This record gives sequence, structure tokens and C-alpha cells, in this order.
Amino acid sequence: MYPIFSAIHVLTSRDLCRPRLACLRFKTSKFRASAPLSLTLTDTTALPPCQEARPHSCACKNARNMPIQAKIGPSILNADLANLAAESQKLLDNGADYLHLDVMDGTFVPNLTFGHPMVKCLRNNIKKAFFETHMMVQNPEQWIAPMADAGVNLYTFHVEPVEDVCKVTRLIQEAGMKVGLAIKPGTKVQEIEKYIDIADLVLVMTVEPGFGGQSFMADMMPKVEWLRTNYPNLDIEVDGGVGPKTIDCCAKAGANWIVSGTAVVGAADQRQVIGDMRDVVKRYLK
Ligand code: DX5
Ligand code: ZN
Repeated sequence: MYPIFSAIHVLTSRDLCRPRLACLRFKTSKFRASAPLSLTLTDTTALPPCQEARPHSCACKNARNMPIQAKIGPSILNADLANLAAESQKLLDNGADYLHLDVMDGTFVPNLTFGHPMVKCLRNNIKKAFFETHMMVQNPEQWIAPMADAGVNLYTFHVEPVEDVCKVTRLIQEAGMKVGLAIKPGTKVQEIEKYIDIADLVLVMTVEPGFGGQSFMADMMPKVEWLRTNYPNLDIEVDGGVGPKTIDCCAKAGANWIVSGTAVVGAADQRQVIGDMRDVVKRYLK
């Protein structure tokens, strides 16, 4: 056990990039769970202050050496929630790449939607689709375990009310989910710069979170441009007022994960709208 501790200690004492550190923590926490150790790894699992972002080159699960892809994720917020499973399946059958599930707690935003029990029911009906929960909640840490249990793949939370973003990120990863960092229109993208290397995706809100059907805020595009320029392989998501009329602007700025609510859910031909938007994003990815 001592050599393991020493190796980890030496590694963390050196200049490890944070994603590697996150992976290491993930592995050591698994190790601790499966083997009774007389030696605690407190020194190595204690989070150092987040460092400045740096190029990410390790082969851990966060590695960003894969080419980014165009993904369209309908928001079911304005769908018929009484028929959520059927509405969601219809969107997937019409080509949606993932489902964007808007979770609101009535505190972080002035609206209330649904929580993990409903997500779990949806998962029981839809086994294979990729689920993102957009956590518009005051305390995202509180919902990590139940959302993981409900079968969520990507847990995207707002950084604004969170004191320790590194800790929440680590807990999400340890629960087996990917991590998205979301920012409201009033939050500068530089405020999350130091966390980008430990996340899987950044969500730039293009409306004030809380309600579907609002007007797209084109003045958020410089944030997307800045992210794409500085993080060519980062998954960048936009959410709010995105549809056929605004997709070009988002894609041109560099967004590749596209949330679209009313424009898709209310479309006469969902397949056409989803396909057209994905084509626009693909065109700019080339
Ligand atoms: C707003 C939500 C969005 C929204 C998207 O707070 O996070 O996901 O419902 O819907 P549209 O595309 O209608 O703005
Ligand atoms: Zn959303």
C-alpha cells in the first residue's frame, strides 16, 4: 500500500493537469471503496485550489482529442409533459441526438419543473438515449446521487450559486456522469476558465434561464467565440431561443451542442428542423 501512496503523492506533488488529478481521484476513490486500507489518502484527495486552464493531453475519460460533433438536443420543457415519454421518443425517432431535461427548483430560477423521480420514470421508458439534465437549481450537489441513479448521462449545473465548483464536478464524475458547466447571460465566460479543463462541456445560456420560448440573445455569441478560439475541441452548448432562424449565428460562433425547445417541439416536421440545424452546425465544423 505504501508504494501506491508514494506514487500518488509524488504525482500530485508534481505538475499534474487537473483532469489527470480528477481521474486519479476517481481511481483512488474506487480503490478505497473496494479495499480496506489502513492508510488514508486524505493528502492526495484533498482538492488543491483550481489552477489556471492548461492544455489537456492525458488519456483519461475527459480527453479531448476526439473531433467534436454536431449534436441537437431538444428541450422538452414546452412539450406536453403529461405525455413526456411519448413526446421524447418522438423527438428521438425524428433524429434528436440527446434529450435536454430542464430541472428547475423555483429558487435559482422563478419556475418549477420536475426532478429525479420523473427523470427516472422517463429512463425506464427510454433505455438508450443520452440524457442531459440542465440543473437550474440553487444546490446542484444535492441532486447528484439521485440523478445518477435516475440514469442521467450528463449533469450540467450553473456555477453561479456554487461555492466549490471543483468539488461538485468531482462528485458528478465519481457518480459516473459527465459534467457540464452552465453560465447565465450575466456571467462572464472567463469566470469559469479555470474549471474548463475538468469539465466535459460548457453551456452558454442565450436567454435568462427559467422559461422556454424567449428571444435569443445574440450578444452571447462572443462568449462562444472566445471558448471555441481557446478550446478548439471543447463541446460548447447553447440554450435558449435557438431554432432555424438563429442556428447560423450559433454555429458560426462555434457551438456544437444545440438545445432547441419550442422551435423543434412545435415544428410540423421535427425531423426536417433537427436535420437542417445539424447540417448548419456540421458546415461550420469543417
Ligand atoms: C430555459 C431552458 C431552455 C429552454 C429552451 O431556461 O433552459 O432549455 O426551455 O427552450 P427554447 O428553445 O424555447 O428557448
Ligand atoms: Zn435548458
